[in-house]
Amino acid sequence: MKCGAAVDDCSRLHGNRHCLKAGSCDGDLLHLSGVPNTLEPCRAIRSNRVASGISTARTAVSPVRQRRTRMPSSLRAAPPVKAPFPNSDIPAVRHGSRSRSRCKMGPIRCLGQVPTPTGNHHSGMYSLRLPEPDSSLSVYRAESEHPPRGRRTVPSLPTQSASADTPSRINDAPRRRKAEGGRQRLAGGFLAAEPLRDVAALLDAYQQGLVFHSLCAVTRLSIPDRMADGRRDIAALAEETGTDEDALRRMLVLLAGSGIVDVDPGRVSAELTERGKVLCRRHPMSLWATFATFGIPDVGNALTETLKDGGPATRHALGVDFWEHLAKHPDQQLVFGQAMAEQARLLTLPCVPLLDWPAEGTVADIAGGIGVLLADILDEVPDARGILVDQPEVLGRARTYLSEQGVDDRCTVRTGDLFVPPPRADVYVLSRVLHDWDDDSVAAILAAVRRGGDDTAVLRIFEDVLPDDAVPSAIQAWADVAMLALYHRAKERTLPEYRRLLERGGWRLERVVQGPPGMCVIEARPLATP
Ligand SMILES: C[S@@+](CC[C@H](N)C(=O)[O-])C[C@H]1O[C@@H](n2cnc3c(N)ncnc32)[C@H](O)[C@@H]1O
Repeated sequence: MKCGAAVDDCSRLHGNRHCLKAGSCDGDLLHLSGVPNTLEPCRAIRSNRVASGISTARTAVSPVRQRRTRMPSSLRAAPPVKAPFPNSDIPAVRHGSRSRSRCKMGPIRCLGQVPTPTGNHHSGMYSLRLPEPDSSLSVYRAESEHPPRGRRTVPSLPTQSASADTPSRINDAPRRRKAEGGRQRLAGGFLAAEPLRDVAALLDAYQQGLVFHSLCAVTRLSIPDRMADGRRDIAALAEETGTDEDALRRMLVLLAGSGIVDVDPGRVSAELTERGKVLCRRHPMSLWATFATFGIPDVGNALTETLKDGGPATRHALGVDFWEHLAKHPDQQLVFGQAMAEQARLLTLPCVPLLDWPAEGTVADIAGGIGVLLADILDEVPDARGILVDQPEVLGRARTYLSEQGVDDRCTVRTGDLFVPPPRADVYVLSRVLHDWDDDSVAAILAAVRRGGDDTAVLRIFEDVLPDDAVPSAIQAWADVAMLALYHRAKERTLPEYRRLLERGGWRLERVVQGPPGMCVIEARPLATP
């Protein structure tokens, strides 16, 4: 809901050029933190009134119910006004009055607006409201703007220059900032160039967590699939999917902020955006299973324990290892296999044409999942034969998949264990397997594969390779912590680390072929004496 006040009322402190052009304030009315169903005027109106000490008469915040309230002192902000929800019995809350303790945030100071780092908020802006200095967040209040002891002033917007009647300490701020490299000195001994932007960036990360979990929730309940063919009435969608209409509506509104769905202003219907359609099963680049699979969203809350002891969050959250858990839950095993297939299409299949495959030889994909990579290799080399090795729970779906791809007549499917030598083959493939394991296990897996093949065998490891002279990229760091969370001491590795482990397993690193971003093929041949 927009403020709509005349420019005269709010442009001075609003700092929003668009507001000046439009002739009326387009600031959003603020939802009062911790108090449902209450709205207060946009912060510009509040700050302006507080600064001038005027009483709030009829404001321009129609259609919100307005009250005539005399401002008790220049310290007090205009009262929030209760939204006209006829069935609500929640009273309006006035800061500075007896009822101020009702607000969990405490008295609110409005410090300005900062663009979100991702720009994905509805308005593209955050309205930041920080509590008074007695709260822990007061660290963000610039020391140079502290009023002399015993005197309280209205806090100014951080970008506003000091006016003639502000205390002399404020006038020192530009000089002190220059001396501190343009950074503000904050309470607690902190220095920061753009503290509000820092707060906004952290809040953005905080919010994205809930967006991620909501995406997983709606995808698990196949909501995107039900929206694949166009705009849907939310009530009908809830009934069809057995979900709570109110919860569904609110989550869809949240996802609208990330460009996943478009919700109409009345919040009656919703439609997937093109981005949102990637969550549909039948999308050619579907990420349905990636979001629907059991995994990070289910164990992420145990990362604190992982941080303490380095053990997988999975074990802390479930009491068993990830693979053990999947083996006990065939439905989740199926979705996990599909998630691996989705990611293989994006990451490993583009590598296949970059490599020479033996025209008439045998390729064994060890822990090859449902066989997406092996089917693609066999498709590339029409006279080659394949062996797919994985756990028994995965192989049922694998047989179906290989048959759908028309390569089942050239492919053997074998139950096998990574730590037991596989059948003889000309080329062994280990795709996105080694990063699931700790160093000793990786060395043991490599040694087992070495014992399975003869001296002419070639090993191709499909993995991302971390830089050994730079900080890993954000996505590499994400994958690394995801491995830490899911499996025992699992990790992404650098090339020197792979070389050492290969040698421990009886292999010599020969070359690395760069695939699409996030994927390489490390090629190795047997060491002379295994
Ligand atoms: C991360 S997935 C990779 C699947 C596939 N290679 C790919 O790139 O999509 C790891 C695979 O290892 C298999 N796996 C886990 N432990 C295993 C074991 N002890 N023996 C054989 N396979 C195992 C899982 O069933 C799963 O298919």
